[in-house]
Amino acid sequence: MVEPLPPITRRRFIAVFWIAAFASLSIWQFGGGDREGTSGGGLSSVFRWKTTTAAASGGFPLVRPVSFNLTDFGAVGDGVTINTEAFERAVSAISKLSKKGGGQLYVPPGRWLTAPFNLTSFMTLFLDQDAEILAVQDESLWPLLPPLPSYGYGREHPGPRYGSFIHGQYLKDVVLTGNNGSINGQGQSWWKKYRSKLLNHTRGPLVQIMWSSDVVFANITLRDSPFWTLHPYDCKNVTITNMTILAPVIEAPNTDGIDPDSCEDMIIENSYISVGDDGIAIKSGWDQYGTTYGRPSKNILIRNLTIRSNVSAGISIGSEMSGGVSNITVENILIWSSRRGVRIKTAPGRGGYVRDITFRNVTFDELRVGVVIKTDYNEHPDGGFDPRAFPVLENIIYTGIYGQGVRVPVRIQGSKEIPVRNVTFRDMSVGVTYKKKHVFQCSYVQGRVIGTVFPAPCENLDRYDEQEQLVKQSDSHNVTDIDYEI
Ligand SMILES: *[C@@H]1O[C@H](CO)[C@@H](O)[C@H](O)[C@H]1NC(C)=O
Ligand SMILES: *[C@@H]1O[C@H](CO)[C@@H](O)[C@H](O)[C@H]1NC(C)=O
Ligand SMILES: *[C@@H]1O[C@H](CO)[C@@H](O)[C@H](O)[C@H]1NC(C)=O
Ligand SMILES: *[C@@H]1O[C@H](CO)[C@@H](O)[C@H](O)[C@H]1NC(C)=O
Ligand SMILES: *[C@@H]1O[C@H](CO)[C@@H](O)[C@H](O)[C@H]1NC(C)=O
Ligand SMILES: *[C@@H]1O[C@H](CO)[C@@H](O)[C@H](O)[C@H]1NC(C)=O
Ligand SMILES: *[C@@H]1O[C@H](CO)[C@@H](O)[C@H](O)[C@H]1NC(C)=O
Ligand SMILES: *[C@@H]1O[C@H](CO)[C@@H](O)[C@H](O)[C@H]1NC(C)=O
Ligand SMILES: *[C@@H]1O[C@H](CO)[C@@H](O)[C@H](O)[C@H]1NC(C)=O
Ligand SMILES: *[C@@H]1O[C@H](CO)[C@@H](O)[C@H](O)[C@H]1NC(C)=O
Ligand SMILES: *[C@@H]1O[C@H](CO)[C@@H](O)[C@H](O)[C@H]1NC(C)=O
Ligand SMILES: *[C@@H]1O[C@H](CO)[C@@H](O)[C@H](O)[C@H]1NC(C)=O
Repeated sequence: MVEPLPPITRRRFIAVFWIAAFASLSIWQFGGGDREGTSGGGLSSVFRWKTTTAAASGGFPLVRPVSFNLTDFGAVGDGVTINTEAFERAVSAISKLSKKGGGQLYVPPGRWLTAPFNLTSFMTLFLDQDAEILAVQDESLWPLLPPLPSYGYGREHPGPRYGSFIHGQYLKDVVLTGNNGSINGQGQSWWKKYRSKLLNHTRGPLVQIMWSSDVVFANITLRDSPFWTLHPYDCKNVTITNMTILAPVIEAPNTDGIDPDSCEDMIIENSYISVGDDGIAIKSGWDQYGTTYGRPSKNILIRNLTIRSNVSAGISIGSEMSGGVSNITVENILIWSSRRGVRIKTAPGRGGYVRDITFRNVTFDELRVGVVIKTDYNEHPDGGFDPRAFPVLENIIYTGIYGQGVRVPVRIQGSKEIPVRNVTFRDMSVGVTYKKKHVFQCSYVQGRVIGTVFPAPCENLDRYDEQEQLVKQSDSHNVTDIDYEI
């Protein structure tokens, strides 16, 4: 099992040895960890770390110079023992390595129950196959954090909110990865209490990383979050790839998949999302709080996803978008068995803007409504919003929109105060299930249709042929044909 170390890692090994010795000394000092199954402290764990390092270089990608095994901090993977101290010690050991490239925490197969814990910079959390980190359900073990500044409120309740299960603030270079191990929020008890109105604070997300940069999520499964699943907040340079995100598609309230919030330079790709609310919801703060905070979400690329959202939408922008949302590309997406496909939602009072958005090659399979823009999503934190803060919606392209089994392929509902400007539809063919008329619904929308678009587009839009020659200019941008009965 102990492989000889290649010479190049010898110096690293010496470093690891001293770090290991240091960490085990602290375990010793603190009394050897939780109950039985502890490392036993002292020298035995030092030698186990030596094993870990060698095994790590052969078994799975080792991107950090040092890898710790969770069990060496006294963790017990029986699904019953609460391992919070082990996680905290491990993170603390890694935090001491920040000047040396950081460290990896290897989580072996097992069911590792823990209370919420914080990550640190230059850290990789690696979840091996059949490793599951389980959240405790007792809410008294979940710390309360101040409301997000751009929301003013906990979101469901005023005042503080529960922090996330796995949390990070002001970090750099964090990686959550593995061989498809999983992080399980055990949200069932939270959903039940929420529905019975037994909670006094807003539920916590599963993973929330705030004010951080260079963050990677890859190769793992996130499931059954109490609230939003993955919430990067005011972060820069975030990659989310090859992930599976799961929650029951009904009766798992607010379990959005991924909510980029006031984030920039982000990629979300190659993933499967099936949840109880929006698959993805791009946000940037709520009404006057979002306006004051003033951080847009921008430069986000979303591609190659399969999404199911039985009660909400595959991909949403908003409704909290008061800091602005721009330069978003969404391509090669399949949305199936969902209520809505791609949706932009906002309301008077939000302010801000949604502009320069491209949807390309999006397929709908069995949806109620395909393309949605809604400008009266009236949900406000408090009475302090400015009712005349009208968001701007403009420069939105839908190109290559396909599918079948959709009741209403398009419903764009601008308003006198929030008209939708410069929308382009190009190359669209969506099979309808129910009626053939009034299924491309519009109001207060200006823009164009280029080439072949099925079903027949609303008269609000200008018509161009395949060669982009004007065929018919519309003089009725503001005509309203919205029918919620269909
Ligand atoms: C981690 O520790 C467990 C329990 O001691 C052991 O079975 C496993 O082989 C270790 N894994 C690695 C990669 O060191
Ligand atoms: C995580 O860090 C935040 C910010 O420092 C702190 O408020 C919170 O209590 C920490 N959470 C845990 C579980 O330690
Ligand atoms: C995706 O993750 C799985 C494990 O969850 C892994 O087996 C597979 O190789 C990964 N694919 C890519 C393209 O990274
Ligand atoms: C990862 O695990 C999830 C949940 O068990 C499963 O649905 C998914 O197919 C797995 N992904 C890979 C690449 O094996
Ligand atoms: C909510 O507050 C009420 C009244 O103070 C209290 O009885 C109840 O235990 C609290 N519930 C939770 C989940 O903290
Ligand atoms: C973004 O983050 C990744 C992963 O940490 C890193 O490799 C890359 O250099 C970062 N890019 C920029 C422009 O900082
Ligand atoms: C995801 O898994 C693939 C296949 O094992 C690997 O090549 C890639 O480096 C992993 N990504 C991360 C960020 O660990
Ligand atoms: C799209 O994502 C899936 C995983 O959901 C992956 O298997 C496939 O290779 C990806 N396709 C491309 C073109 O990257
Ligand atoms: C728009 O976002 C993409 C990433 O999706 C980025 O490459 C590009 O530079 C951004 N464009 C502008 C004008 O910032
Ligand atoms: C369009 O998206 C689908 C997934 O919905 C994908 O299979 C297909 O390869 C994409 N087409 C192109 C030309 O990228
Ligand atoms: C309309 O939107 C397109 C695509 O976003 C953009 O290229 C064009 O400049 C916009 N036109 C106006 C008049 O703003
Ligand atoms: C449609 O409404 C918008 C915004 O209310 C207004 O600026 C525009 O002049 C109207 N267009 C027509 C053709 O009446």
